[in-house]
Amino acid sequence: MKRIKIKDILSSDKSQYEACVKGWVRTFRNNQFIALNDGSTIHNLQAVVDFENTSEEILKRITTGACVSVTGTIITSLGKGQKYELKASALEILGDSDPEKYPLQPKKHSLEFLREIAHLRFRTSTFSAVFRVRNVLSHAVHKFFQEKGFAWIHTPIITASDAEGAGQMFRVTTLDLKNPPKTESGEIDFSQDFFGKSTNLTVSGQLEGELAAMALSEIYTFGPTFRAENSNTTRHLAEFWMIEPEMAFYDLNDNMDLAQELLQYVIKEALAHCADDLQFLNERLLEEEKQKPQNERSEMNLVDKLKFCVENDFQRVTYTEAIDILRESNHNKKKKFSYLIDKWGADLQSEHERYLVEKHFKKPVILIDYPKEIKAFYMRQNEDGKTVRAMDVLFPGIGEIIGGSQREERYDKLLQRMQEMHIPHEEMYWYLDTRRFGACPHAGFGLGFERLVLFVTGMTNIRDIIAFARTPKNCEF
Ligand code: 4AD
Ligand code: MG
Repeated sequence: MKRIKIKDILSSDKSQYEACVKGWVRTFRNNQFIALNDGSTIHNLQAVVDFENTSEEILKRITTGACVSVTGTIITSLGKGQKYELKASALEILGDSDPEKYPLQPKKHSLEFLREIAHLRFRTSTFSAVFRVRNVLSHAVHKFFQEKGFAWIHTPIITASDAEGAGQMFRVTTLDLKNPPKTESGEIDFSQDFFGKSTNLTVSGQLEGELAAMALSEIYTFGPTFRAENSNTTRHLAEFWMIEPEMAFYDLNDNMDLAQELLQYVIKEALAHCADDLQFLNERLLEEEKQKPQNERSEMNLVDKLKFCVENDFQRVTYTEAIDILRESNHNKKKKFSYLIDKWGADLQSEHERYLVEKHFKKPVILIDYPKEIKAFYMRQNEDGKTVRAMDVLFPGIGEIIGGSQREERYDKLLQRMQEMHIPHEEMYWYLDTRRFGACPHAGFGLGFERLVLFVTGMTNIRDIIAFARTPKNCEF
């Protein structure tokens, strides 16, 4: 008999039919009731075993974590909290799970513990919900751009450039580390390396994305990016996925419009297609927040917060306005920030971003026109000579979720900025060429996919919304 997914059984209005269900045992009670989960939904299906006609040997093997195939009749359940159950007529153990050794007991485990057994944590309700939401969000990203006619460009993973000019890169090499070839001056001779030059994992697909946008008009990337920054925070990964749209003929306002539209669209998709999972995550979060003092709890529950973001325009503010707000804030005056804001030009820390979003505006914020000193070389310079057409989208609980800008399309200005910032402009002739041949105003941004998933799931640590987190001193699995 063909297998039916639990989700399809629970969402149909049929009963009294034969079905075969395969999944993993969550619990087994009274030698009779299996809570079976196959990952198609947060809900388990109760399979009722005919224990009088099942051998003792088989009954013993129905343990938490075991994989079973159950065939029987789907009937309307008399039990509480479930529409249907499966009255088993045959049961086969597909894979045993020794209850003495299986690390996932049918009880609540801490997220820290589950991180150590990340190979098994998919099997918990929380993580299966997270990964279903993650999947819907990634599909929604593609849907959004495809509906708008953007072309998905696959930019390289291995590059010889540092797109952000920030130098936080993982080197890629096949040289013998014990005995690398040296140049006459004693430096490592990368001309003998695999690519004949020094290479690294990409930190961003933007620069290559810009090249494509200068022909296809509207493109996006969606791929892995790598940063060797030694940031051990709940919002940084060494390997993360980024979505980078790049659009010819867009200015900063168009860019902001697109960023807001994208975020609202994908959150709406999650609300529409992950209602059960979000409800579960909502309750999980409420439970978790009970441990916190009242003043640290969220003002809105998860689902209301998502709806709020979908329904309200993001607040657009200049960096200069933000600095004034922060400088005048009670938080600053009472020295509650770790980094006090004393003058224009200061880089904003996540505590400042979150203050603006959570305490001051109480909604998502788009900060624009940052000082050029704290932003990348490719951002379009404003007439004031001090600021650039940058934008960061800041979200509650997250801080920066998007970073982007209108790009400097004027060859001379770009070259000058590259020189000032010691960006190797000769090697980057290909980037400058777009400004020499048919340049046009254009803009784009990067959305950190994990930060989006973090926001939508209400999870609090970025290590818990990617399958296998890569962070400093940790590359397990
Ligand atoms: O602000 P970032 O560094 O911008 C860029 O890389 C630009 N090239 C984007 C563009 O304009 N096309 O990174 C963009 C976003 C951040 O806003 C953040 O959401 C995410 O990427 N991000 C990280 N996410 C997880 N771990 C990290 N270490 C991250 N660094 C950045
Ligand atoms: Mg940034």
